[in-house]
Amino acid sequence: MEERETWEALDQYFSEKLHAFDPVMDWVLEANEKAELPPIDVAPNQGKFLYLLAKLKGVKTILEIGTLGGYSSIWMARALPDDGRLVTLEFSEKHAAIAQSNMKKAGVDGKIDVIIGPALETLPTLKDKGFSSFDMIFIDADKPNNPHYLEWALKLSTPGTLIVGDNVVRNGNVLNKESADPSIKGIRQFIHLLSEEPRIESTAIQTVGIKGYDGFVVGVVKK
Ligand code: SAH
Ligand code: DHB
Ligand code: MG
Repeated sequence: MEERETWEALDQYFSEKLHAFDPVMDWVLEANEKAELPPIDVAPNQGKFLYLLAKLKGVKTILEIGTLGGYSSIWMARALPDDGRLVTLEFSEKHAAIAQSNMKKAGVDGKIDVIIGPALETLPTLKDKGFSSFDMIFIDADKPNNPHYLEWALKLSTPGTLIVGDNVVRNGNVLNKESADPSIKGIRQFIHLLSEEPRIESTAIQTVGIKGYDGFVVGVVKK
């Protein structure tokens, strides 16, 4: 088997065995495919991992930057208590509409606010909407803006807030200091800011699987 096929087969195996697949989540992925959304949702086992992180921390409030079809939003919302709330920010009206329909189908729409617009314009409105801080923040939108999203994550956090940033490896391309790719530059600057940020303790984990070779950052705001 090619290396990549092995990664994919193992993701399939773990996901089937460890219940990362379930009818509702599968239905959401199908709906996204039918609507021709780019297939860049987190993988099923990554969605389950976000859900487990949220459970582990007992989070009540979650901020997500980058909704797409709501696949990761729904995973995380499922970990919330009845009075929990997830706010997710999405630039595309089309993506937001599909996400809202998926959230309804999954029965978690009552816990989620989808806020439409460029995140750098909607983040400053969250305080006035009654969201002054979040227990968990998932950064997964346009990578060139990651440095700004980190600043906002800090503004909207309290001691103990968990910050997760997706796609920090990108097939290894993040290693390329000279890259002119704005996404790679954004991620490198994000990592650099974290390295100098005294308010957050963080690490990065490389992953392989159905989404190829990538990784994520996990950080906790200091107490
Ligand atoms: N978190 C999702 C995947 C998000 S894909 C999941 O795992 O299921 C990234 C999303 O960010 C896309 O839907 C894209 O439209 C959105 N996006 C890109 N630039 C944005 C911006 N400036 N503000 C808000 N959303 C943006
Ligand atoms: C891309 C974005 C993502 O959030 C992801 O998980 C994978 C790929 C992209 O823009 O290519
Ligand atoms: Mg991603």
